[in-house]
Amino acid sequence: MATSIALPIIRTRRPSPKLCSLASSSGKTSSSPLSNYDIFLTRDCLAYSKVKPAVNQIETRPCFQRDSLVKFCQKHGVCVTAHTPLGGSVANKEWFGSVSCLDEPVLKGLAEKYKKTVAQVVLRWGIQRNTVVIPKSSKSERLKDNIVVFDFELSEEDMGIIKSIDKEYRTNQPAKFWVINLYA
Ligand SMILES: NC(=O)c1ccc[n+]([C@@H]2O[C@H](COP(=O)([O-])OP(=O)(O)OC[C@H]3O[C@@H](n4cnc5c(N)ncnc54)[C@H](OP(=O)(O)O)[C@@H]3O)[C@@H](O)[C@H]2O)c1
Repeated sequence: MATSIALPIIRTRRPSPKLCSLASSSGKTSSSPLSNYDIFLTRDCLAYSKVKPAVNQIETRPCFQRDSLVKFCQKHGVCVTAHTPLGGSVANKEWFGSVSCLDEPVLKGLAEKYKKTVAQVVLRWGIQRNTVVIPKSSKSERLKDNIVVFDFELSEEDMGIIKSIDKEYRTNQPAKFWVINLYA
């Protein structure tokens, strides 16, 4: 009988085929999860690891779509989980001088059109691009709302409109928090 065990997500800035393989060495699993692997790290992992990564949990939302990475993962059978799908608790404006995706006028307009909240539109968009979305809320009402995203569908045209609002706004900016530019 197949069993599933929870493994720590592999979270590193360096390609680590060894880490990717570690998970399977016990014979208890045949896949491994990744987190924050960009396209190059994912490619390296796919090329060198004996164990195929099953999931890559990355930051993505309408204002930070990362289409190339998402498509690359999906093409190679790596499920994309969208972390911080709503933009996180730290306001983009405060930290990065950018607008939070929940305040994005285009998304507000679509929320009105579909009679949904902006968060629901954002989450539905994530689902329709075949990503797993993992919003967090400390409020029970919002937890309930964030699940009611399977009773409507964004039209192809509206998916196209959302595609056009990508601003490459990243909230996960180690350079801001640690004052080290990891992407240098
Ligand atoms: N792998 C990684 O590197 C990584 C990095 C960051 C996060 N994550 C994971 O991603 C998940 C979500 O992350 P997150 O909390 O940073 O981001 P998030 O879910 O995008 O945003 C959470 C924020 O949005 C608010 N919110 C939730 N539902 C809302 C709604 N319907 N309307 C308006 N605001 C709403 C929450 O406020 P209230 O609580 O007041 O509702 C909270 O401030 C977590 O499981 C986290 O562990 C992973």
